[in-house]
Amino acid sequence: MEKDLLDLTDLTKVEIKDIINLAEDIKENPQKYNSKLKGKTLLMIFEKASLRTRISFEVGMTQLGGHAIYYNVATSPMGKGESIQDTAKTASRYVDLIMARIKHADIIQIAEHSRVPVINAMTDFTHPCQILGDFLTIKEKKGSLEGLKLAFVGDGNNNIVHSLLYGCPLVGIKLAIATPNEYKPQSSVVETARAIGGEITVTTNALEAVKDADIVMADTWVSYYVPQVEKDARLKIFKAYQVTEELFKNAKEDAIFMHCLPAVRGMEMTKEVIDGPQSVVFDQAENRLHIQKAIMLKLVE
Ligand code: CP
Ligand code: NVA
Repeated sequence: MEKDLLDLTDLTKVEIKDIINLAEDIKENPQKYNSKLKGKTLLMIFEKASLRTRISFEVGMTQLGGHAIYYNVATSPMGKGESIQDTAKTASRYVDLIMARIKHADIIQIAEHSRVPVINAMTDFTHPCQILGDFLTIKEKKGSLEGLKLAFVGDGNNNIVHSLLYGCPLVGIKLAIATPNEYKPQSSVVETARAIGGEITVTTNALEAVKDADIVMADTWVSYYVPQVEKDARLKIFKAYQVTEELFKNAKEDAIFMHCLPAVRGMEMTKEVIDGPQSVVFDQAENRLHIQKAIMLKLVE
Protein backbone atom coordinates (compact mmCIF):
# COMPACT_ATOMS: atom_id res chain seq x y z
CA MET A 1 0.00 0.00 0.00
CA GLU A 2 1.10 3.61 -0.60
CA LYS A 3 2.91 5.30 2.25
CA ASP A 4 0.13 7.77 3.02
CA LEU A 5 -3.67 7.93 3.05
CA LEU A 6 -4.37 11.48 1.95
CA ASP A 7 -7.23 10.66 -0.41
CA LEU A 8 -9.11 7.58 -1.56
CA THR A 9 -7.41 7.96 -4.93
CA ASP A 10 -4.27 6.77 -3.08
CA LEU A 11 -5.92 3.33 -2.84
CA THR A 12 -6.70 0.68 -5.44
CA LYS A 13 -10.01 -1.21 -5.55
CA VAL A 14 -8.23 -4.23 -4.07
CA GLU A 15 -6.69 -2.19 -1.24
CA ILE A 16 -10.12 -0.78 -0.30
CA LYS A 17 -11.57 -4.28 -0.25
CA ASP A 18 -8.64 -5.50 1.88
CA ILE A 19 -9.06 -2.67 4.41
CA ILE A 20 -12.80 -3.36 4.73
CA ASN A 21 -12.21 -7.12 5.13
CA LEU A 22 -9.52 -6.50 7.75
CA ALA A 23 -11.81 -4.09 9.63
CA GLU A 24 -14.53 -6.77 9.68
CA ASP A 25 -12.11 -9.26 11.20
CA ILE A 26 -10.81 -6.70 13.72
CA LYS A 27 -14.40 -5.94 14.74
CA GLU A 28 -15.18 -9.62 15.22
CA ASN A 29 -11.89 -10.68 16.81
CA PRO A 30 -10.35 -7.58 18.46
CA GLN A 31 -8.13 -9.65 20.79
CA LYS A 32 -6.25 -11.10 17.75
CA TYR A 33 -4.87 -7.63 17.08
CA ASN A 34 -4.22 -6.32 20.59
CA SER A 35 -0.43 -6.22 20.36
CA LYS A 36 0.04 -5.67 16.61
CA LEU A 37 1.27 -2.09 17.10
CA LYS A 38 3.03 -2.66 20.44
CA GLY A 39 5.68 0.01 21.01
CA LYS A 40 4.39 2.18 18.14
CA THR A 41 3.28 5.80 18.51
CA LEU A 42 0.68 7.76 16.55
CA LEU A 43 0.87 11.58 16.48
CA MET A 44 -2.57 13.21 16.10
CA ILE A 45 -2.39 16.82 14.87
CA PHE A 46 -5.65 18.77 15.23
CA GLU A 47 -6.41 22.27 13.95
CA LYS A 48 -10.20 21.74 14.20
CA ALA A 49 -12.46 20.22 16.83
CA SER A 50 -13.42 16.53 16.85
CA LEU A 51 -15.36 13.97 18.86
CA ARG A 52 -15.33 10.80 16.75
CA THR A 53 -12.02 11.09 14.90
CA ARG A 54 -9.98 12.05 17.92
CA ILE A 55 -11.41 9.41 20.25
CA SER A 56 -11.62 6.55 17.75
CA PHE A 57 -8.01 6.98 16.60
CA GLU A 58 -6.71 7.21 20.16
CA VAL A 59 -8.77 4.24 21.38
CA GLY A 60 -7.85 2.32 18.23
CA MET A 61 -4.14 2.80 18.86
CA THR A 62 -4.56 1.72 22.51
CA GLN A 63 -6.46 -1.40 21.44
CA LEU A 64 -3.66 -2.29 18.99
CA GLY A 65 -1.11 -2.08 21.81
CA GLY A 66 0.34 1.29 20.79
CA HIS A 67 0.16 4.85 22.07
CA ALA A 68 -1.33 8.07 20.66
CA ILE A 69 -0.33 11.70 21.31
CA TYR A 70 -2.88 14.51 20.87
CA TYR A 71 -1.19 17.62 19.46
CA ASN A 72 -3.31 20.78 19.26
CA VAL A 73 -2.21 23.25 16.57
CA ALA A 74 -3.58 26.17 18.64
CA THR A 75 -1.07 25.52 21.42
CA SER A 76 1.84 24.46 19.21
CA PRO A 77 4.41 26.46 17.23
CA MET A 78 3.32 24.75 13.97
CA GLY A 79 2.67 27.28 11.21
CA LYS A 80 3.66 30.12 13.53
CA GLY A 81 7.14 29.92 15.10
CA GLU A 82 7.91 26.67 13.24
CA SER A 83 7.27 25.79 9.62
CA ILE A 84 5.03 22.87 8.67
CA GLN A 85 7.99 21.31 6.88
CA ASP A 86 10.22 21.41 9.98
CA THR A 87 7.36 20.12 12.14
CA ALA A 88 6.93 17.09 9.87
CA LYS A 89 10.67 16.44 9.62
CA THR A 90 11.09 16.63 13.41
CA ALA A 91 7.96 14.77 14.53
CA SER A 92 8.58 11.91 12.12
CA ARG A 93 11.92 11.22 13.84
CA TYR A 94 9.94 10.32 17.00
CA VAL A 95 6.69 8.68 15.93
CA ASP A 96 5.69 5.81 13.63
CA LEU A 97 2.54 7.32 12.15
CA ILE A 98 1.00 10.80 11.83
CA MET A 99 -2.65 11.73 11.37
CA ALA A 100 -3.79 15.32 10.91
CA ARG A 101 -6.99 17.35 10.76
CA ILE A 102 -5.65 20.44 9.02
CA LYS A 103 -6.06 22.23 5.68
CA HIS A 104 -5.49 20.05 2.64
CA ALA A 105 -2.55 22.09 1.34
CA ASP A 106 -0.90 21.68 4.75
CA ILE A 107 -1.36 17.92 5.00
CA ILE A 108 0.27 17.56 1.58
CA GLN A 109 3.27 19.45 2.98
CA ILE A 110 3.36 17.22 6.06
CA ALA A 111 3.27 14.09 3.91
CA GLU A 112 6.01 15.41 1.66
CA HIS A 113 8.36 16.02 4.58
CA SER A 114 7.43 13.15 6.90
CA ARG A 115 9.51 9.97 7.10
CA VAL A 116 6.48 8.03 8.36
CA PRO A 117 3.00 7.43 6.87
CA VAL A 118 0.48 10.28 7.09
CA ILE A 119 -3.31 9.87 7.37
CA ASN A 120 -5.88 12.53 6.43
CA ALA A 121 -8.15 12.87 9.49
CA MET A 122 -10.34 15.38 7.56
CA THR A 123 -9.34 18.46 5.66
CA ASP A 124 -11.29 21.28 4.05
CA PHE A 125 -11.23 19.13 0.87
CA THR A 126 -11.72 15.46 1.78
CA HIS A 127 -12.43 12.97 4.61
CA PRO A 128 -11.28 9.53 3.42
CA CYS A 129 -11.41 7.71 6.80
CA GLN A 130 -15.08 8.64 7.16
CA ILE A 131 -16.00 7.26 3.76
CA LEU A 132 -14.03 4.02 4.27
CA GLY A 133 -15.89 3.56 7.57
CA ASP A 134 -19.15 4.29 5.77
CA PHE A 135 -18.39 1.60 3.18
CA LEU A 136 -17.95 -0.86 6.06
CA THR A 137 -21.34 0.20 7.48
CA ILE A 138 -23.06 -0.06 4.08
CA LYS A 139 -21.58 -3.54 3.54
CA GLU A 140 -22.84 -4.64 6.96
CA LYS A 141 -26.34 -3.33 6.30
CA LYS A 142 -26.71 -4.24 2.62
CA GLY A 143 -24.47 -7.32 2.27
CA SER A 144 -22.34 -5.80 -0.51
CA LEU A 145 -21.54 -2.46 -2.13
CA GLU A 146 -21.57 -3.14 -5.88
CA GLY A 147 -24.58 -1.71 -7.75
CA LEU A 148 -26.11 0.26 -4.86
CA LYS A 149 -27.35 3.85 -5.30
CA LEU A 150 -26.26 6.47 -2.77
CA ALA A 151 -28.02 9.85 -2.74
CA PHE A 152 -26.24 12.73 -1.03
CA VAL A 153 -28.47 15.72 -0.30
CA GLY A 154 -27.13 19.11 0.87
CA ASP A 155 -23.82 20.98 0.56
CA GLY A 156 -22.24 19.41 -2.51
CA ASN A 157 -18.97 21.28 -2.22
CA ASN A 158 -17.67 19.66 0.93
CA ASN A 159 -15.15 17.10 2.12
CA ILE A 160 -17.67 14.24 2.50
CA VAL A 161 -18.92 14.65 -1.07
CA HIS A 162 -15.41 14.86 -2.51
CA SER A 163 -14.41 11.64 -0.75
CA LEU A 164 -17.63 9.96 -1.91
CA LEU A 165 -16.76 11.00 -5.45
CA TYR A 166 -13.30 9.46 -5.17
CA GLY A 167 -14.46 6.34 -3.31
CA CYS A 168 -17.81 5.28 -4.77
CA PRO A 169 -16.46 4.46 -8.26
CA LEU A 170 -13.86 2.17 -6.66
CA VAL A 171 -16.50 0.07 -4.88
CA GLY A 172 -19.20 0.18 -7.60
CA ILE A 173 -21.67 2.49 -5.81
CA LYS A 174 -23.69 4.85 -8.06
CA LEU A 175 -23.70 8.37 -6.65
CA ALA A 176 -26.41 11.04 -7.02
CA ILE A 177 -25.68 14.45 -5.49
CA ALA A 178 -28.49 16.96 -4.96
CA THR A 179 -27.21 20.46 -4.23
CA PRO A 180 -27.86 24.07 -5.24
CA ASN A 181 -25.97 25.21 -8.35
CA GLU A 182 -23.60 27.41 -6.32
CA TYR A 183 -22.56 24.45 -4.12
CA LYS A 184 -21.67 21.85 -6.72
CA PRO A 185 -18.61 19.69 -5.96
CA GLN A 186 -15.27 20.75 -7.43
CA SER A 187 -15.48 19.94 -11.13
CA SER A 188 -12.01 18.33 -11.22
CA VAL A 189 -13.19 15.82 -8.60
CA VAL A 190 -16.35 15.00 -10.58
CA GLU A 191 -14.21 14.55 -13.69
CA THR A 192 -11.83 12.20 -11.85
CA ALA A 193 -14.78 10.18 -10.50
CA ARG A 194 -16.21 9.78 -14.01
CA ALA A 195 -12.78 8.99 -15.48
CA ILE A 196 -12.37 6.09 -13.05
CA GLY A 197 -15.73 4.67 -14.08
CA GLY A 198 -18.09 6.32 -11.60
CA GLU A 199 -21.80 6.63 -12.38
CA ILE A 200 -22.26 10.17 -11.09
CA THR A 201 -25.31 12.46 -11.23
CA VAL A 202 -25.19 16.05 -9.98
CA THR A 203 -28.61 17.71 -9.83
CA THR A 204 -30.42 20.55 -8.08
CA ASN A 205 -33.43 18.25 -7.60
CA ALA A 206 -33.40 16.41 -4.24
CA LEU A 207 -36.33 14.21 -5.20
CA GLU A 208 -34.63 13.01 -8.37
CA ALA A 209 -31.46 12.13 -6.44
CA VAL A 210 -33.27 10.26 -3.66
CA LYS A 211 -35.56 8.30 -5.99
CA ASP A 212 -34.93 4.55 -5.54
CA ALA A 213 -31.76 5.14 -3.54
CA ASP A 214 -30.44 2.40 -1.23
CA ILE A 215 -28.69 4.99 0.93
CA VAL A 216 -29.63 8.60 1.65
CA MET A 217 -26.85 10.67 3.17
CA ALA A 218 -26.83 14.17 4.63
CA ASP A 219 -24.10 16.30 6.20
CA THR A 220 -23.92 19.61 8.01
CA TRP A 221 -24.70 22.74 6.00
CA VAL A 222 -21.90 24.61 7.78
CA SER A 223 -18.71 22.53 7.74
CA TYR A 224 -15.84 23.12 10.16
CA TYR A 225 -13.86 25.13 7.59
CA VAL A 226 -16.80 27.31 6.46
CA PRO A 227 -16.59 30.84 7.91
CA GLN A 228 -19.43 31.46 10.42
CA VAL A 229 -20.44 34.64 8.52
CA GLU A 230 -21.82 32.40 5.77
CA LYS A 231 -24.12 30.54 8.17
CA ASP A 232 -27.36 32.54 7.78
CA ALA A 233 -27.22 32.57 3.98
CA ARG A 234 -26.52 28.83 3.95
CA LEU A 235 -29.47 28.01 6.20
CA LYS A 236 -31.75 29.75 3.74
CA ILE A 237 -30.35 28.26 0.55
CA PHE A 238 -30.11 24.69 1.87
CA LYS A 239 -33.60 24.65 3.39
CA ALA A 240 -34.94 23.00 0.21
CA TYR A 241 -32.38 20.22 0.73
CA GLN A 242 -33.47 19.11 4.20
CA VAL A 243 -33.96 15.33 4.40
CA THR A 244 -37.51 15.01 5.69
CA GLU A 245 -39.57 11.84 6.12
CA GLU A 246 -41.48 12.86 3.00
CA LEU A 247 -38.31 13.11 0.91
CA PHE A 248 -36.87 9.91 2.42
CA LYS A 249 -40.00 7.97 1.36
CA ASN A 250 -38.89 8.33 -2.27
CA ALA A 251 -35.87 6.12 -1.59
CA LYS A 252 -36.21 2.31 -1.57
CA GLU A 253 -38.40 0.95 1.19
CA ASP A 254 -35.39 -0.58 2.97
CA ALA A 255 -33.11 2.44 2.41
CA ILE A 256 -30.78 3.52 5.20
CA PHE A 257 -30.10 7.05 6.37
CA MET A 258 -26.47 8.02 6.95
CA HIS A 259 -24.72 11.07 8.41
CA CYS A 260 -21.09 11.33 9.51
CA LEU A 261 -22.07 13.53 12.52
CA PRO A 262 -22.03 16.07 14.09
CA ALA A 263 -25.63 16.70 12.98
CA VAL A 264 -28.13 19.46 13.67
CA ARG A 265 -31.69 18.16 13.98
CA GLY A 266 -34.09 20.49 12.15
CA MET A 267 -31.45 21.57 9.67
CA GLU A 268 -29.91 19.06 7.24
CA MET A 269 -32.48 16.44 8.33
CA THR A 270 -35.43 16.26 10.64
CA LYS A 271 -35.33 14.58 14.03
CA GLU A 272 -37.74 11.90 12.75
CA VAL A 273 -35.26 10.86 10.04
CA ILE A 274 -32.03 10.80 12.06
CA ASP A 275 -33.69 9.22 15.11
CA GLY A 276 -35.90 6.93 13.02
CA PRO A 277 -35.62 3.17 12.49
CA GLN A 278 -33.75 3.44 9.18
CA SER A 279 -30.98 5.64 10.54
CA VAL A 280 -27.58 3.96 11.03
CA VAL A 281 -25.62 7.00 12.17
CA PHE A 282 -24.27 5.51 15.41
CA ASP A 283 -23.16 2.32 13.64
CA GLN A 284 -21.29 4.64 11.29
CA ALA A 285 -19.67 6.36 14.27
CA GLU A 286 -18.65 3.00 15.80
CA ASN A 287 -17.20 1.76 12.53
CA ARG A 288 -14.73 4.65 12.44
CA LEU A 289 -12.87 2.76 15.18
CA HIS A 290 -12.68 -0.57 13.35
CA ILE A 291 -11.80 0.89 9.94
CA GLN A 292 -9.08 3.15 11.34
CA LYS A 293 -7.46 0.24 13.18
CA ALA A 294 -7.34 -1.52 9.79
CA ILE A 295 -5.90 1.58 8.08
CA MET A 296 -3.19 1.99 10.73
CA LEU A 297 -2.23 -1.68 10.50
CA LYS A 298 -1.99 -1.55 6.71
CA LEU A 299 0.19 1.58 6.80
CA VAL A 300 2.54 0.56 9.61
CA GLU A 301 3.03 -3.16 9.02
N1 CP B 1 -17.43 12.40 11.59
C1 CP B 1 -16.38 13.02 12.16
O1 CP B 1 -15.29 13.10 11.60
O2 CP B 1 -16.64 13.53 13.39
P1 CP B 1 -15.69 14.42 14.29
O3 CP B 1 -15.64 15.78 13.68
O4 CP B 1 -16.33 14.41 15.64
O5 CP B 1 -14.33 13.79 14.32
N1 NVA C 1 -18.43 18.21 6.31
C1 NVA C 1 -18.25 18.14 7.72
C2 NVA C 1 -17.74 16.81 8.16
C3 NVA C 1 -17.61 16.66 9.65
C4 NVA C 1 -17.01 15.38 10.07
C5 NVA C 1 -17.30 19.25 8.17
O1 NVA C 1 -16.29 19.48 7.50
O2 NVA C 1 -17.58 19.88 9.20
